[in-house]
Amino acid sequence: MTAERLIAASLVVSALASLALVVVFFVGGHPQIEGILLALALGGLGAGIVIWSIRLLNAPIQVEERHPLASPEQTRNDAASTVDMRSITRRTLLVRLLLGAVGALAAALAIPALALGPGPGRELFQTPWRAGSRIVGDDGLPIRPDDLAIGSVRTVFPEDAIGSPEAVTLLIKVRPSELRLDAQRMSWAPEGCVGYSKICTHAGCPVGLYRAEEHALLCPCHQSTFDVLRGAVPTFGPAARPLPQLPIDVDADGFLVARGDFPEPVGPSFWNLTHTETDG
Ligand code: FES
Repeated sequence: MTAERLIAASLVVSALASLALVVVFFVGGHPQIEGILLALALGGLGAGIVIWSIRLLNAPIQVEERHPLASPEQTRNDAASTVDMRSITRRTLLVRLLLGAVGALAAALAIPALALGPGPGRELFQTPWRAGSRIVGDDGLPIRPDDLAIGSVRTVFPEDAIGSPEAVTLLIKVRPSELRLDAQRMSWAPEGCVGYSKICTHAGCPVGLYRAEEHALLCPCHQSTFDVLRGAVPTFGPAARPLPQLPIDVDADGFLVARGDFPEPVGPSFWNLTHTETDG
């Protein structure tokens, strides 16, 4: 097989594999087949370029002595009659095949971007907590401040979203005089009932342990520790920001309710979480 045919075959294989990759993606996708097709697309393109550079562009360095720029007319006529038109045609074909293979590969490489799925929108910034949401246990019963003993902790949810993984909150009762919060956050902790997101701000594990005597919440995954009295700021471990505090109030019937959603996103930080949102 001549070099030209070898190059053409490589580029055709590359282009067909790229197009097949696009087709396989749009009919449902198959990771193994897509991997094989991508290997053929890249391999064919690479083989074609390598063979082209070695076999066709491997011209030795030639030094041409100075001579008059214009050739004698007889020489030019002779040259014109001896130009091999087939080589020009072949080169044009190969260039077109190369452009076709690169274009098809570019279409195939758009697949990873198409496979990312829909963006999360504002979902990462919101939970089911709303102003007036009654705070209930996993039994669905509303809670009054007096239902909690000092030093106790309960896992709570909004009454209309029991079990919600985004809304899960730890309700802890401490002596109000022990809290070290600014005035606004103090008003969010009626009778010492303070609520923090249960989702660790490091990697999202549930913050499942409470040491009442130290007023410390502990995450069992990587031992991040949060100070309940000071707004759940991290005091140990890899977590870099506090657990968001739920604004809490008491309604006219004496039950604990939310004043609104968490002031900052719950769970692990993400790339477009800004300082404004983490500052509350
Ligand atoms: S997930 Fe909580 S410390 Fe890592």
